[in-house]
Amino acid sequence: MPWIVKPSGTQQIERRTEPYLTEALRAELEADALTRYPTKQAATLPALHAVQHTYGYIPYQAIEEIAAFLDLTAAEVYDTATFYEEFFLEPKGKYLVQICQSIACELCGCFDLKGWLTDKLQITNGETTDDGKITLQMVECLGMCDDAPAVLINGKMYRKVTADQMDKVLAELPDDPARFPAPGTAAAAQA
Ligand code: FES
Repeated sequence: MPWIVKPSGTQQIERRTEPYLTEALRAELEADALTRYPTKQAATLPALHAVQHTYGYIPYQAIEEIAAFLDLTAAEVYDTATFYEEFFLEPKGKYLVQICQSIACELCGCFDLKGWLTDKLQITNGETTDDGKITLQMVECLGMCDDAPAVLINGKMYRKVTADQMDKVLAELPDDPARFPAPGTAAAAQA
């Protein structure tokens, strides 16, 4: 795999006046994570989760704010955020389509499915459609190996997925994700 070189030295970081790590988030972390762990550094993951849960992703400015809050360098927080595929450093689409690429799903055609989706939506791994509706992410085992290939859409599991089935599911995705009956959504609570 070729190295991907990013111009970090000249990269422009979008900033806003209001901090992402708000007083409320700081208070929450101070009361919970910081009392649970022996070092501030150990609260890096809870802080990243808190920011992503609030904004849907982790802006670069928030990485600097978390670093200052935990007495770390921004590079240390960035390293952690980029190590886990669950964290997003860019806004993601309304729907996160996660295709398992581990061995059972690979043997059962997950990369054919990915290819089909890429052709249909013109996005590849980590990208979002121009309309902001769908982000594609290839992930590791979803724990559904006996029903491979498995796909997770906003927390809802689909098993033995075919391109035809995926086509139908995508066509039926409501514009408002709150109406999508995935676990933890308003629609699931009403179902
Ligand atoms: S290998 Fe895909 S769900 Fe386990």
